[in-house]
Amino acid sequence: MALFFALCAQTPAATTPNSCVACHAEIAKLEAGRAHAQAEIGCVACHGGDSAQAEKDAAHAASAGFSGKLGALATVELCGNCHADVARMNPYGLPTDQLAQYRTSRHGQGLFTDHDESGAICSSCHGAHGILGPKSSESPVHPTHVAQTCGKCHGDESLMTAHGLAATAPAAYAKSVHAQVLAKGDDSAPQCATCHGSHGAIPPGFGSVAAVCGKCHMREKELFQKSPHAPLVETGDFPGCIVCHSNHAIQPAEPRIFESVCGLCHGGTPEVLAKRDRIAGALNSSNELLAAREAELQAAAQHGLASDEDELFLDEARTGLKSARVLQHSLDPARVEEVTGEARGQLEALRLRLQKERDAQRWKRLALLPVVAFLILMSLGAWVRFRRLHSHA
Ligand code: HEC
Ligand code: HEC
Ligand code: HEC
Ligand code: HEC
Ligand code: HEC
Ligand code: HEC
Ligand code: HEC
Ligand code: HEC
Ligand code: HEC
Repeated sequence: MALFFALCAQTPAATTPNSCVACHAEIAKLEAGRAHAQAEIGCVACHGGDSAQAEKDAAHAASAGFSGKLGALATVELCGNCHADVARMNPYGLPTDQLAQYRTSRHGQGLFTDHDESGAICSSCHGAHGILGPKSSESPVHPTHVAQTCGKCHGDESLMTAHGLAATAPAAYAKSVHAQVLAKGDDSAPQCATCHGSHGAIPPGFGSVAAVCGKCHMREKELFQKSPHAPLVETGDFPGCIVCHSNHAIQPAEPRIFESVCGLCHGGTPEVLAKRDRIAGALNSSNELLAAREAELQAAAQHGLASDEDELFLDEARTGLKSARVLQHSLDPARVEEVTGEARGQLEALRLRLQKERDAQRWKRLALLPVVAFLILMSLGAWVRFRRLHSHA
């Protein structure tokens, strides 16, 4: 009771509006206007202490719950528990599963089970001060910045080696078609957290690779799951899509995959290689035909000979070949040949049309010949007459 009165008596004289802010101006500036400041979560909510005390030691008093700089475990519990509080998060419409997910992640297992503090904690990915939500383009967890945020550690050779991991993921990912699409601002392409999870980050097991990639490449997944390789996923003999495409440095798909990959396992089975050759042959030769017609149509267009209808034939062939590239995931040569066959039909029809148009123009030119000859003769005559008149004058 005496202490209470003493505090009350002391307060008016000793207060500044917020002593933490007065002494820690730089951190206060970081916080201003950001997510927590907007929700009126100030320094004391995270660090304890008494912001009514102007003196450092009084403001930092342990009796006022001052925690000082937070360690890894304390940070995860501080952030995680408040964010798991449903009543507290409801007004903001935020999910409340971050801590629960984090516990299941390799990072969380490292911290809680192995007491290893070198894995990611909440503030490794979000920062501690000036936190922004993932929609803000300045946030370290905005899709375009995630690879860099994970890469701080996953590209760190000594840290990764200490955990038996390769430090190659960030550099490999940076070269991928996915990273390039994302860099253009198209966030339909995946970054690290799309495939691994953010709070629950784990490597997808063999069994779930097709599910991870299939979130976006649905048709490829369906076909793969009916292909002769699918049963091998469960036995652990075939890690799904990444056998042929790799996991991080995914490149635009090309038929050369057939040359580089299939032989690794089927080198001794000529029947399977024969099937491969049929599939690759159907795709390769159709691609060549398509390229030839594209060049032909372009040349025709330069002579004013191409019509919109010609473009239509080409578009249909392109669409057909695109679906054949997807369909080859069935590994069924007959199905691929059926679709490439139709596309080749379109390309053959286009070849005939272009030939007809060229012939027609040639005839038109021939038909013009007599007219041109007549005009030349006429002007010759006129010139001769003009010369004669001149020489008489
Ligand atoms: C009179 C100035 C002053 C006031 C008021 C003050 N601090 Fe500090 N604070 C400091 C200084 C100086 C340090 C540097 C380390 C030290 O000497 O303890 C510091 C360090 C800290 C640290 C880091 C401690 C560590 O272990 O590294 C935290 C966290 C902190 N202050 C939070 C607060 C909070 C929260 C408040 C308000 C309740 C507050 N401070 C009020 C001056 C102040
Ligand atoms: C949402 C919780 C949260 C809020 C709000 C917060 N801090 Fe911190 N603060 C942390 C965490 C977590 C750390 C540990 C830093 C780390 O892990 O990198 C920290 C570290 C610090 C440090 C140690 C030096 C440093 O930068 O690492 C100081 C000083 C500090 N905070 C002061 C403040 C002050 C002053 C405010 C109010 C303006 C504030 N903090 C608001 C969570 C918070
Ligand atoms: C390994 C990096 C990483 C760690 C560790 C991490 N986060 Fe996140 N966090 C993200 C990413 C990335 C997003 C963006 C949305 C997504 O991909 O889930 C996010 C989103 C959020 C959001 C926005 C709402 C939501 O769930 O999408 C909150 C709140 C949040 N994190 C809180 C936390 C808390 C609390 C912790 C610690 C228990 C934590 N985060 C640990 C990377 C991380
Ligand atoms: C005392 C409760 C509390 C603590 C502790 C806390 N937060 Fe928050 N946090 C909130 C509230 C409330 C919001 C919503 C603010 C808003 O939307 O304006 C929020 C917002 C966020 C957001 C932005 C979410 C979004 O999608 O806009 C992230 C990210 C986040 N917090 C991460 C953290 C991290 C990391 C820590 C620990 C360093 C932490 N929080 C500590 C209550 C807390
Ligand atoms: C602060 C450093 C740090 C950051 C940031 C970080 N990680 Fe990690 N990560 C680690 C460490 C260290 C391990 C090893 C943990 C262990 O084995 O205990 C790990 C493990 C992993 C693993 C498990 C690998 C395996 O095969 O066991 C995955 C997956 C992972 N992190 C993904 C991510 C993703 C995705 C992000 C970004 C959203 C991220 N990490 C951010 C340090 C970090
Ligand atoms: C397109 C999906 C995808 C993206 C994007 C992705 N990964 Fe992976 N990652 C995988 C798959 C699949 C595996 C292999 C899992 C297996 O072998 O069981 C993997 C494995 C890993 C591993 C563990 C294996 C090892 O030792 O390398 C880590 C760590 C990892 N990824 C981190 C990252 C980081 C960091 C990023 C971002 C820079 C990232 N990944 C982006 C799909 C992805
Ligand atoms: C046995 C090897 C192999 C496996 C397994 C495989 N692919 Fe492919 N994939 C290919 C080849 C070869 C091509 C290129 C065909 C071409 O360009 O003619 C391709 C093409 C693609 C394309 C581009 C097709 C398009 O839309 O034009 C995507 C996307 C793709 N694969 C995703 C996947 C996904 C997702 C999985 C797993 C569900 C998967 N692949 C499994 C060999 C494979
Ligand atoms: C979040 C959605 C998403 C996920 C998850 C995803 N991708 Fe992609 N992928 C894309 C987008 C978008 C493109 C670029 C546009 C396109 O070509 O379809 C792309 C392109 C590709 C290409 C090049 C296609 C071509 O036309 O040459 C391949 C191959 C590919 N992805 C394979 C994979 C594999 C394998 C995985 C899983 C390890 C995966 N993707 C996971 C969205 C995704
Ligand atoms: C990681 C090893 C591996 C790779 C790489 C691989 N396969 Fe297979 N494949 C197998 C195994 C194992 C079987 C089942 C045993 C068998 O029939 O040979 C199989 C079965 C098949 C079958 C069905 C068997 C049959 O007689 O019809 C076909 C077709 C096939 N693979 C085609 C391909 C093609 C095409 C590629 C390259 C794009 C490829 N495989 C790459 C391991 C692989």
